[in-house]
Amino acid sequence: MKISIVGAGNVGALSAMRIAQYNLGDIFLIDIVKGLAEGKALDLADAQAVLGIDYNIRGSDDFNNIKDSDIVVVTAGLARKPGMTREELLARNSQILKEVCLNIKKLAPRAVVIIVTNPLDLMTYLALKVTGFAKNKVLGMGSSLDSSRFANLISQELKLPASSIEAMVAGAHGEGMLPLAKQTKIKGVNLEEFLSDEKTACLTKKTVERGAQIVALLGSGSAFFAPSAAVAQMVRVIAKDEKRILGACAYLDGEYGIKDICIGVPCRLGKAGIEKIIELELTAKEKKELLRSAEAMRGLLKQLTF
Ligand code: LAC
Repeated sequence: MKISIVGAGNVGALSAMRIAQYNLGDIFLIDIVKGLAEGKALDLADAQAVLGIDYNIRGSDDFNNIKDSDIVVVTAGLARKPGMTREELLARNSQILKEVCLNIKKLAPRAVVIIVTNPLDLMTYLALKVTGFAKNKVLGMGSSLDSSRFANLISQELKLPASSIEAMVAGAHGEGMLPLAKQTKIKGVNLEEFLSDEKTACLTKKTVERGAQIVALLGSGSAFFAPSAAVAQMVRVIAKDEKRILGACAYLDGEYGIKDICIGVPCRLGKAGIEKIIELELTAKEKKELLRSAEAMRGLLKQLTF
Protein backbone atom coordinates (compact mmCIF):
# COMPACT_ATOMS: atom_id res chain seq x y z
CA MET A 1 0.00 0.00 0.00
CA LYS A 2 1.41 3.38 -1.00
CA ILE A 3 -0.01 6.48 0.67
CA SER A 4 1.04 9.92 -0.54
CA ILE A 5 0.40 13.14 1.31
CA VAL A 6 0.60 16.34 -0.69
CA GLY A 7 1.47 19.33 1.48
CA ALA A 8 3.90 19.03 4.41
CA GLY A 9 2.47 21.79 6.58
CA ASN A 10 1.02 21.07 10.01
CA VAL A 11 -1.94 18.97 8.82
CA GLY A 12 0.11 17.05 6.22
CA ALA A 13 3.05 16.30 8.51
CA LEU A 14 0.90 15.28 11.47
CA SER A 15 -1.26 13.11 9.22
CA ALA A 16 1.94 11.41 8.04
CA MET A 17 2.95 10.80 11.66
CA ARG A 18 -0.40 9.31 12.63
CA ILE A 19 -0.61 7.18 9.48
CA ALA A 20 2.93 5.92 10.11
CA GLN A 21 1.95 4.90 13.63
CA TYR A 22 -1.06 3.00 12.26
CA ASN A 23 1.39 1.07 10.10
CA LEU A 24 -0.74 1.19 6.95
CA GLY A 25 1.91 1.15 4.25
CA ASP A 26 4.68 3.18 2.62
CA ILE A 27 4.25 6.92 3.05
CA PHE A 28 5.39 9.67 0.70
CA LEU A 29 5.24 13.26 1.89
CA ILE A 30 5.39 15.87 -0.89
CA ASP A 31 5.74 19.63 -0.73
CA ILE A 32 6.80 22.14 -3.37
CA VAL A 33 8.89 23.99 -0.76
CA LYS A 34 12.39 22.57 -1.22
CA GLY A 35 13.56 20.46 1.70
CA LEU A 36 10.39 20.78 3.80
CA ALA A 37 8.88 17.35 3.12
CA GLU A 38 12.26 15.64 3.05
CA GLY A 39 13.27 17.21 6.36
CA LYS A 40 10.01 16.31 8.09
CA ALA A 41 10.13 12.76 6.72
CA LEU A 42 13.67 12.28 8.03
CA ASP A 43 12.57 13.58 11.42
CA LEU A 44 9.56 11.24 11.48
CA ALA A 45 11.70 8.28 10.45
CA ASP A 46 14.13 9.00 13.28
CA ALA A 47 11.37 8.35 15.83
CA GLN A 48 11.00 4.66 14.95
CA ALA A 49 13.52 3.26 17.44
CA VAL A 50 12.13 5.36 20.30
CA LEU A 51 8.58 4.33 19.49
CA GLY A 52 9.57 0.74 18.94
CA ILE A 53 7.66 0.57 15.66
CA ASP A 54 8.89 0.33 12.08
CA TYR A 55 7.48 2.26 9.16
CA ASN A 56 8.66 3.58 5.84
CA ILE A 57 8.37 7.30 5.17
CA ARG A 58 10.11 9.44 2.58
CA GLY A 59 9.76 13.07 1.61
CA SER A 60 10.44 15.05 -1.52
CA ASP A 61 9.63 18.17 -3.53
CA ASP A 62 9.24 16.07 -6.66
CA PHE A 63 5.62 15.29 -7.47
CA ASN A 64 6.61 12.27 -9.55
CA ASN A 65 7.02 10.40 -6.28
CA ILE A 66 3.25 10.01 -5.93
CA LYS A 67 3.38 7.58 -8.86
CA ASP A 68 1.03 4.61 -8.48
CA SER A 69 -0.17 5.61 -5.00
CA ASP A 70 -3.19 3.75 -3.67
CA ILE A 71 -4.30 6.71 -1.57
CA VAL A 72 -3.43 10.38 -2.06
CA VAL A 73 -4.23 12.89 0.68
CA VAL A 74 -4.26 16.53 -0.46
CA THR A 75 -3.55 19.12 2.23
CA ALA A 76 -1.75 21.61 -0.03
CA GLY A 77 -2.95 25.19 -0.08
CA LEU A 78 -3.30 28.22 2.14
CA ALA A 79 -4.92 28.11 5.57
CA ARG A 80 -7.29 30.73 6.94
CA LYS A 81 -6.11 33.85 8.73
CA PRO A 82 -8.06 35.21 11.70
CA GLY A 83 -11.42 36.62 10.59
CA MET A 84 -11.42 34.83 7.23
CA THR A 85 -14.05 32.35 6.11
CA ARG A 86 -12.96 29.11 4.44
CA GLU A 87 -14.64 30.34 1.23
CA GLU A 88 -12.26 33.31 1.01
CA LEU A 89 -9.51 30.82 0.14
CA LEU A 90 -11.36 29.74 -2.98
CA ALA A 91 -9.47 31.58 -5.74
CA ARG A 92 -5.93 30.80 -4.59
CA ASN A 93 -6.50 27.24 -3.40
CA SER A 94 -8.42 26.23 -6.51
CA GLN A 95 -5.35 27.11 -8.63
CA ILE A 96 -3.15 25.00 -6.37
CA LEU A 97 -5.63 22.11 -6.30
CA LYS A 98 -6.06 22.10 -10.03
CA GLU A 99 -2.36 21.59 -10.59
CA VAL A 100 -2.13 18.93 -7.88
CA CYS A 101 -5.14 17.04 -9.29
CA LEU A 102 -3.79 17.05 -12.85
CA ASN A 103 -0.66 15.40 -11.47
CA ILE A 104 -2.73 12.83 -9.54
CA LYS A 105 -4.70 12.04 -12.69
CA LYS A 106 -1.50 11.46 -14.65
CA LEU A 107 0.61 9.70 -12.02
CA ALA A 108 -1.82 7.85 -9.72
CA PRO A 109 -4.89 7.07 -11.83
CA ARG A 110 -6.12 4.29 -9.52
CA ALA A 111 -5.81 6.23 -6.27
CA VAL A 112 -8.53 7.07 -3.79
CA VAL A 113 -8.13 10.82 -3.27
CA ILE A 114 -8.87 12.47 0.07
CA ILE A 115 -9.18 16.26 -0.06
CA VAL A 116 -8.40 18.28 3.06
CA THR A 117 -7.76 21.73 1.52
CA ASN A 118 -10.37 24.42 2.18
CA PRO A 119 -12.96 25.42 1.18
CA LEU A 120 -13.36 21.69 1.57
CA ASP A 121 -16.60 20.92 -0.24
CA LEU A 122 -15.71 23.06 -3.24
CA MET A 123 -12.17 21.67 -3.45
CA THR A 124 -13.55 18.12 -3.35
CA TYR A 125 -15.87 18.97 -6.26
CA LEU A 126 -12.98 20.54 -8.17
CA ALA A 127 -10.79 17.48 -7.55
CA LEU A 128 -13.51 15.16 -8.84
CA LYS A 129 -13.95 17.19 -12.02
CA VAL A 130 -10.25 17.77 -12.70
CA THR A 131 -9.22 14.14 -12.15
CA GLY A 132 -12.30 12.77 -13.91
CA PHE A 133 -12.15 9.87 -11.41
CA ALA A 134 -15.25 7.88 -10.48
CA LYS A 135 -17.32 9.61 -7.81
CA ASN A 136 -16.52 6.97 -5.17
CA LYS A 137 -12.78 7.64 -5.52
CA VAL A 138 -12.74 11.30 -4.49
CA LEU A 139 -13.87 12.36 -1.02
CA GLY A 140 -13.24 15.15 1.45
CA MET A 141 -12.37 15.18 5.14
CA GLY A 142 -14.68 17.56 7.01
CA SER A 143 -17.72 15.99 8.64
CA SER A 144 -15.76 13.45 10.69
CA LEU A 145 -13.68 16.30 12.16
CA ASP A 146 -16.83 18.33 12.80
CA SER A 147 -18.45 15.28 14.45
CA SER A 148 -15.43 14.85 16.72
CA ARG A 149 -15.63 18.52 17.72
CA PHE A 150 -19.36 18.18 18.44
CA ALA A 151 -18.65 15.07 20.53
CA ASN A 152 -15.97 16.89 22.52
CA LEU A 153 -18.29 19.82 23.27
CA ILE A 154 -21.05 17.42 24.37
CA SER A 155 -18.61 15.52 26.56
CA GLN A 156 -17.51 18.72 28.30
CA GLU A 157 -21.12 19.74 28.87
CA LEU A 158 -22.19 16.37 30.25
CA LYS A 159 -18.87 15.50 31.92
CA LEU A 160 -18.76 12.19 30.10
CA PRO A 161 -15.86 10.71 28.12
CA ALA A 162 -15.77 11.98 24.52
CA SER A 163 -15.09 8.42 23.36
CA SER A 164 -18.55 7.35 24.61
CA ILE A 165 -20.26 9.82 22.25
CA GLU A 166 -21.15 8.98 18.69
CA ALA A 167 -21.82 12.33 17.07
CA MET A 168 -22.98 12.94 13.54
CA VAL A 169 -22.49 16.14 11.57
CA ALA A 170 -23.55 16.57 7.93
CA GLY A 171 -23.61 19.47 5.47
CA ALA A 172 -20.85 21.79 4.35
CA HIS A 173 -17.57 22.05 6.27
CA GLY A 174 -18.32 25.72 6.93
CA GLU A 175 -21.21 27.92 7.90
CA GLY A 176 -23.68 25.40 6.43
CA MET A 177 -22.47 22.70 8.86
CA LEU A 178 -25.31 20.70 10.34
CA PRO A 179 -24.76 18.85 13.63
CA LEU A 180 -27.50 16.20 13.74
CA ALA A 181 -28.64 15.96 17.35
CA LYS A 182 -31.16 13.19 16.64
CA GLN A 183 -28.44 11.02 15.09
CA THR A 184 -26.07 11.65 17.98
CA LYS A 185 -25.92 8.99 20.66
CA ILE A 186 -24.28 8.52 24.01
CA LYS A 187 -23.71 4.83 24.63
CA GLY A 188 -26.63 4.17 22.31
CA VAL A 189 -29.01 6.66 23.99
CA ASN A 190 -30.21 9.70 22.03
CA LEU A 191 -28.67 13.06 22.89
CA GLU A 192 -32.13 14.55 23.49
CA GLU A 193 -32.44 12.37 26.59
CA PHE A 194 -29.49 14.30 28.07
CA LEU A 195 -29.76 17.86 26.76
CA SER A 196 -32.50 20.43 26.21
CA ASP A 197 -33.03 21.67 22.64
CA GLU A 198 -31.70 25.02 23.76
CA LYS A 199 -28.44 23.59 25.09
CA THR A 200 -28.03 21.44 21.99
CA ALA A 201 -28.48 24.52 19.79
CA CYS A 202 -25.76 26.27 21.78
CA LEU A 203 -23.33 23.35 21.34
CA THR A 204 -24.24 23.19 17.64
CA LYS A 205 -23.28 26.85 17.24
CA LYS A 206 -19.99 26.26 19.07
CA THR A 207 -19.24 23.32 16.76
CA VAL A 208 -19.80 25.46 13.66
CA GLU A 209 -17.52 28.15 15.08
CA ARG A 210 -14.81 25.85 16.45
CA GLY A 211 -12.46 26.06 13.43
CA ALA A 212 -12.59 29.89 13.44
CA GLN A 213 -12.14 29.98 17.22
CA ILE A 214 -8.90 28.00 16.87
CA VAL A 215 -7.70 30.17 13.95
CA ALA A 216 -8.30 33.30 16.07
CA LEU A 217 -6.42 31.85 19.05
CA LEU A 218 -3.46 30.64 17.00
CA GLY A 219 -3.10 33.95 15.19
CA SER A 220 -1.57 32.22 12.21
CA GLY A 221 -2.57 28.94 10.61
CA SER A 222 -5.54 26.75 11.46
CA ALA A 223 -6.24 23.62 13.49
CA PHE A 224 -4.12 20.54 12.89
CA PHE A 225 -4.29 18.02 15.75
CA ALA A 226 -7.93 17.03 15.31
CA PRO A 227 -7.88 17.47 11.50
CA SER A 228 -4.87 15.13 11.17
CA ALA A 229 -6.54 12.60 13.47
CA ALA A 230 -9.60 12.64 11.20
CA VAL A 231 -7.42 12.29 8.08
CA ALA A 232 -5.53 9.32 9.54
CA GLN A 233 -8.79 7.64 10.56
CA MET A 234 -10.14 8.02 7.02
CA VAL A 235 -6.93 6.63 5.50
CA ARG A 236 -6.98 3.70 7.96
CA VAL A 237 -10.62 2.81 7.22
CA ILE A 238 -9.90 2.82 3.47
CA ALA A 239 -6.49 1.11 3.64
CA LYS A 240 -7.75 -1.66 5.93
CA ASP A 241 -11.08 -1.92 4.11
CA GLU A 242 -12.87 -1.49 7.45
CA LYS A 243 -16.29 -0.65 5.89
CA ARG A 244 -16.96 1.83 8.68
CA ILE A 245 -19.45 4.65 8.47
CA LEU A 246 -17.82 8.08 8.74
CA GLY A 247 -18.97 11.56 7.83
CA ALA A 248 -17.26 12.48 4.55
CA CYS A 249 -17.67 15.03 1.81
CA ALA A 250 -19.14 13.06 -1.09
CA TYR A 251 -20.52 13.75 -4.56
CA LEU A 252 -24.28 13.47 -4.37
CA ASP A 253 -26.20 12.26 -7.37
CA GLY A 254 -29.75 12.47 -6.09
CA GLU A 255 -29.16 11.26 -2.52
CA TYR A 256 -31.04 13.47 -0.04
CA GLY A 257 -32.67 15.08 -3.09
CA ILE A 258 -29.36 16.80 -3.95
CA LYS A 259 -27.60 16.52 -7.28
CA ASP A 260 -24.17 17.51 -8.61
CA ILE A 261 -22.81 18.89 -5.32
CA CYS A 262 -20.12 17.61 -2.96
CA ILE A 263 -21.20 17.91 0.66
CA GLY A 264 -20.77 16.13 3.99
CA VAL A 265 -22.91 13.03 4.54
CA PRO A 266 -22.38 9.73 6.35
CA CYS A 267 -20.62 7.25 4.07
CA ARG A 268 -19.51 3.65 4.37
CA LEU A 269 -15.81 3.72 3.50
CA GLY A 270 -13.66 0.85 2.35
CA LYS A 271 -10.95 0.02 -0.16
CA ALA A 272 -13.02 1.41 -3.06
CA GLY A 273 -13.32 4.76 -1.26
CA ILE A 274 -16.97 5.69 -0.76
CA GLU A 275 -18.73 2.34 -0.94
CA LYS A 276 -22.16 3.65 0.03
CA ILE A 277 -23.77 6.95 0.89
CA ILE A 278 -25.99 6.44 3.91
CA GLU A 279 -29.32 8.25 3.66
CA LEU A 280 -30.39 9.03 7.21
CA GLU A 281 -33.95 9.77 8.21
CA LEU A 282 -33.70 13.50 8.74
CA THR A 283 -36.31 15.68 10.40
CA ALA A 284 -38.10 18.16 8.12
CA LYS A 285 -36.02 20.97 9.62
CA GLU A 286 -32.73 19.12 9.11
CA LYS A 287 -33.68 18.25 5.53
CA LYS A 288 -34.42 21.90 4.83
CA GLU A 289 -31.09 22.98 6.33
CA LEU A 290 -29.13 20.38 4.37
CA LEU A 291 -30.79 21.56 1.15
CA ARG A 292 -30.00 25.16 2.07
CA SER A 293 -26.36 24.21 2.73
CA ALA A 294 -26.22 22.47 -0.67
CA GLU A 295 -27.78 25.42 -2.49
CA ALA A 296 -25.26 27.82 -0.91
CA MET A 297 -22.58 25.49 -2.26
CA ARG A 298 -24.13 25.53 -5.72
CA GLY A 299 -23.93 29.32 -5.72
CA LEU A 300 -20.21 29.19 -4.91
CA LEU A 301 -19.53 26.49 -7.51
CA LYS A 302 -20.06 29.15 -10.19
CA GLN A 303 -16.81 30.74 -9.04
CA LEU A 304 -14.83 27.58 -9.81
CA THR A 305 -13.02 27.30 -13.12
CA PHE A 306 -11.65 23.97 -14.22
C1 LAC B 1 -10.87 23.58 10.53
C2 LAC B 1 -10.21 23.76 9.21
C3 LAC B 1 -9.15 22.74 9.03
O1 LAC B 1 -12.06 23.29 10.55
O2 LAC B 1 -11.14 23.74 8.18
O3 LAC B 1 -10.18 23.73 11.53
